[in-house]
Amino acid sequence: MSSGDFDYDAHGHDYATIRRPDPRIASLIHSALGDAPTVLNVGAGAGSYEPSDRHVVAVEPSAAMRAQRPPSLVTAVNATAEQLPFDDNSFDAAMATVTVHQWRDLARGLSELRRVARGPVVILTFDGDALDRFWLAAYAPELIAAERRRYPAIPLLADAIGRSSSVAEVPIPIDCVDGFTEAFYARPESFLDPRVRAAQSAWGFITPEATQRTVAGLRQDLASGRWDETYASWRAQPQFNGSLRLLTGLP
Ligand SMILES: C[S@@+](CC[C@H](N)C(=O)[O-])C[C@H]1O[C@@H](n2cnc3c(N)ncnc32)[C@H](O)[C@@H]1O
Repeated sequence: MSSGDFDYDAHGHDYATIRRPDPRIASLIHSALGDAPTVLNVGAGAGSYEPSDRHVVAVEPSAAMRAQRPPSLVTAVNATAEQLPFDDNSFDAAMATVTVHQWRDLARGLSELRRVARGPVVILTFDGDALDRFWLAAYAPELIAAERRRYPAIPLLADAIGRSSSVAEVPIPIDCVDGFTEAFYARPESFLDPRVRAAQSAWGFITPEATQRTVAGLRQDLASGRWDETYASWRAQPQFNGSLRLLTGLP
């Protein structure tokens, strides 16, 4: 049984093939962690963005995701953000990347993160209010609407993770290695690949008919040249300031 709003045990078996950490995004996350020698990674999944130069403890409730962690990473503890099995202030820092929108009890999970970390709590997430900057909104309005409903408001997250919090827009590089939807802003053909879509939980929140309609419309516009008539400049844009956000909260 999944602990989030998306069943990774049923649908996440190919996640690690498409969702690999992007080194430029990783470096922003690692800087936000400061010099913390011990780090808790919550909703750790297959281990994306986990630092390799510190002592890490990972928490991940999905067996399918735990099984995809490479042998070089620590084995993840089977637990949830809402009930972290650790003492107060037991880590120098805590991180949660692309996971808070899936938690059943967000307020509880955030307060648990703050409770167990002595130093920074770092969250990588998406800003629902910025999702329509992406051209995909014109092809998949249902998907953007579903995503907007899922992502918690940024000020709410910022308030919960510290007295002093910062929020930064994370630029998405044109050749982003990670496979979240906006990562393919310059590679529209990628959305025609069912393996790419399967590693993006957003598609699980719209009907198969809506997915089919979106993919068929995009396929047709790519073949006819209509997509390029409207969006050609996106193919060469070196980075995209979309909805990706990095939050850092200090106690
Ligand atoms: C999109 S994946 C992100 C994984 C990884 N952090 C990354 O950046 O690739 C979201 C993860 O959050 C986990 N998750 C869902 N609900 C959770 C909860 N309540 N507590 C902790 N993790 C949860 C899922 O099982 C999944 O592995």
